[in-house]
Amino acid sequence: MARLLIILILTSLFAFPSCSSDEEPLIAVSVFRSDDAFINDVVDWIASESHDGIPVIVGEAENSQDVQNRMISGFLDEGCSSMIINCVDRTAAGLVIEKCRKADVPLVFLNREPLKEDMAKWDRAYYVGARADVCGEMAGEYMAAYWKSHPEADRNGDGILQFVILRGETGHQDSELRTEYFLKALAENGVRIERLGEGSANWQRGEARALMESFLRADDGIEAVFANNDMMALGAIDALKEAGWFDGGQYMPVIGCDGIDEALEAMEQGYLLYTVINDSENQARAAYRIASLLAEGKIPDSASVGYGMDGRYVWIPYREVSTGSISSSRGSRIVTDVPASSSDSIVTP
Ligand code: BGC
Ligand code: CA
Repeated sequence: MARLLIILILTSLFAFPSCSSDEEPLIAVSVFRSDDAFINDVVDWIASESHDGIPVIVGEAENSQDVQNRMISGFLDEGCSSMIINCVDRTAAGLVIEKCRKADVPLVFLNREPLKEDMAKWDRAYYVGARADVCGEMAGEYMAAYWKSHPEADRNGDGILQFVILRGETGHQDSELRTEYFLKALAENGVRIERLGEGSANWQRGEARALMESFLRADDGIEAVFANNDMMALGAIDALKEAGWFDGGQYMPVIGCDGIDEALEAMEQGYLLYTVINDSENQARAAYRIASLLAEGKIPDSASVGYGMDGRYVWIPYREVSTGSISSSRGSRIVTDVPASSSDSIVTP
């Protein structure tokens, strides 16, 4: 049997393959949805990590906490050794921890940070993520520097940066913190601002395109766009292109976050001004290593995990884009060998 199973769980629990084969350890992974570019990168990296280690099974929760809760119960019933959970709703982490604690199956949360009081419920619950405030700060500082060195960016010449913000999902720590610290960095760098539009596009390209279209219809004075992730930045660029921007000298500075391949390509082509690398590779590796140690009954620490631990947290730094970022990306995109019993439920991400 292959070391790795990638399974898209459809609607029913009966689609579950068997999790554990006899005494072999197995790590169960549940992600919030299957069509999120950043999360798919993380899953790819977890998959490539598992080639030389404990096998993983991956399920996607169709953006429904109910589906995810049932999936987790299914994983527990099947006797998985540990879990990596990318919660649909991070405020539901408390219930997830309770379930796992009862079954004595330790877990690592990833990307969607549980509330502190939930993390306190069990000392075998861990979190791996990135400090979203730093991402917002980096984006804001870049925007401020660009604004100061490009006087032509002040299209109406009033000394004020008129801009719009495309936020990620409401309640996601990354939406809140990236926005807050982006604004703080602009203020600290003395940039006077006017927000002409702000709304959530739920991390999605299509929603961002529609939102940007409505901003452009409402106001023709927009001078910059900050999107909480790259997919939404690309959606904004779609709308801008459609409206004639980036053609004949009409340039709009658009900033995103994540450093996914498509965004790096858009940067190279001159559409995206800037993005920050949300390090999917190291987040995946840290989560997988913690889950592996937990699966073997060990207590993870900085030395065994290979990343500095802050209690039960690992924070992976954001990075500047460097030349070569595109070519260095990505584990193999993936692997599938699925038992016949679940042949109706398979898809590679
Ligand atoms: C990423 C987004 C992604 C979200 C999913 C964020 O950290 O920047 O691109 O959609 O996580 O939870
Ligand atoms: Ca202006």
